[in-house]
Amino acid sequence: MTTHLQRVYSDIAQRYERVNHMFTLGLDMVWRRLAVSMIRPSNVAGTWLDVCSGTGEMVELLAQSAKPATRLVAADFSSDMIHVAKRKSLSRTVLFTLADAGSLPFKDESFDLITISFATRNLTRTRDQLLHTFQEFNRVLKPGGVFLNLETSQPPQTLIRTGFHLYVNIMVNHLGPLLAGSKSGYSFLSNTVRRFHDAKSLAHLLRVSGFQHVSYRRIMFGIAAIHLAIK
Ligand SMILES: C[S@@+](CC[C@H](N)C(=O)[O-])C[C@H]1O[C@@H](n2cnc3c(N)ncnc32)[C@H](O)[C@@H]1O
Repeated sequence: MTTHLQRVYSDIAQRYERVNHMFTLGLDMVWRRLAVSMIRPSNVAGTWLDVCSGTGEMVELLAQSAKPATRLVAADFSSDMIHVAKRKSLSRTVLFTLADAGSLPFKDESFDLITISFATRNLTRTRDQLLHTFQEFNRVLKPGGVFLNLETSQPPQTLIRTGFHLYVNIMVNHLGPLLAGSKSGYSFLSNTVRRFHDAKSLAHLLRVSGFQHVSYRRIMFGIAAIHLAIK
């Protein structure tokens, strides 16, 4: 069954990447690169999963930095997003899977690394749902495996936070529909930016979900944050 949310992503799939780069002034690409460098990919081998893989930008960076024997899996619940990703010529073979992040079709302890970028805030509406999703990531991660989360966050300084929310409201809410042709999709994505957790509270949720050694780095005054956690 196709949910409303899957339709939202399918509607914006073709233009998602271009519009996203425009809104973030290209910084999303810089932040993904930074996130991948923080994993120190050469230290983590085995099987890697990028959840909510979208058009494949994150999994391509993983592909570029992984050791040759690493197996790469990408999961997303929008077949249109997967379709866009599959059309690209990626650096190496990636197994694309149509799957919901809250109920992954993988056995316990399957992966050495799980990444998610710019998707966590749209996955869940409540704290309990987010905990459930993090627990699902924890379930399919091997003991000692690494979880990386790159997401927008809440700048600690009120003035910067207010300016950031204003920018998102104008760009994503008002310009998004014009550029990407989906009004409901972009107002949903912009609302979740305002509602999402700050970096400290997200780190707490990761610990409650069963992860250890949770650390985070705020980027650009806290507009985004990269969390790393170990199972
Ligand atoms: C904002 S895009 C981010 C894509 C990509 N990770 C990136 O860095 O650009 C969010 C992606 O998450 C996917 N998604 C949202 N909720 C999902 C869920 N519950 N299960 C699987 N994929 C989901 C959407 O289809 C979309 O491709």
